[in-house]
Amino acid sequence: PSDKGWDNPSLILYQGFWFPSWLFNGVLACQKHFQAHNSDIILVTSPKSGTTWLKAILFALLNLAKYSDPNSEQCHPLQTRNPHDLVPYLEFQLYLQQEDPDHATFASPRLLATHLPYSSLPQSVRDSKCKLVYLCRNPKDNFISLWHFTKKMMLKENGDQTPLPECLDKFCQGLSMYGPYWDHVLGYHKMSSEMPEKVLFMKYEEMKEDPCVHVRRLATFVGCPFSEEELRGGTVEGILRMCSFDNLSTLEVNKSGSLWTGAENKSFFRRGEVGDWVNYMSAEMGERIDSVMEEKLHGSGLKF
Ligand code: A3P
Repeated sequence: PSDKGWDNPSLILYQGFWFPSWLFNGVLACQKHFQAHNSDIILVTSPKSGTTWLKAILFALLNLAKYSDPNSEQCHPLQTRNPHDLVPYLEFQLYLQQEDPDHATFASPRLLATHLPYSSLPQSVRDSKCKLVYLCRNPKDNFISLWHFTKKMMLKENGDQTPLPECLDKFCQGLSMYGPYWDHVLGYHKMSSEMPEKVLFMKYEEMKEDPCVHVRRLATFVGCPFSEEELRGGTVEGILRMCSFDNLSTLEVNKSGSLWTGAENKSFFRRGEVGDWVNYMSAEMGERIDSVMEEKLHGSGLKF
């Protein structure tokens, strides 16, 4: 495979999944070296499932006590830093840059993220009591979001974007970043029913529909449920306001600047809507994804 960057031709098949070749060393190093702590909280997604949003929410939740003093002049880190800076990906920011990064500087509980499929997680993650929050998204919106993201990256690298119908063919064959998409989702869905205390399974669409309920669910799962006082005082709504698309996408830090991978901070905020796929795909194209998913998810109890 070429080492071109973000587009499909640069994927490597490893342990049944397609990994971008440019970060493959990070995947291997992370699998080999990462030592999970029982107190770790790891956010897992397929790319473009709403990771940025959930990173912000989890960061806000876990740092509630630190930044809740109304008399403090301390500015909330989410106002000045991109969520991907605050909650690093194991296989990019940590293990691709350094083989064995020192996590000692992370406050406990450590909040980390990854796109790794369940079966490819470092053994220590599976063996420890750390908690995994998995967020997935309707595959049609996920596919379109991924298509836009890779288009931006390819234009930046002066490369050609694979046309949408061709990308769709590949997606339906399982050929996408960290795909097959269905196997990624199914791995965590299965674990969430076998080990509900370890894996919380969430859907982007449900979060959009009833964010308060899901933020409370999230808080309970990570071991910091809201007090009655916090609930009465509008803490949940405050977190959601701070982490909303409208707020995050208009912050200076997220309008400018880029991550070390070259991705611009603003490329993580496009539309943030449910059902945007209809603006880019025909009904037939949508049905194609539906029928692949129906076949692959058959018998799992999971539906989109
Ligand atoms: P769209 O491309 O459909 O707009 P990820 O963070 O996993 O890379 O996913 C990016 C997707 O989440 C993009 O979807 C982006 O717009 C959306 N997103 C980013 N921040 C969001 C927020 N605060 N609330 C809802 N969606 C958000």
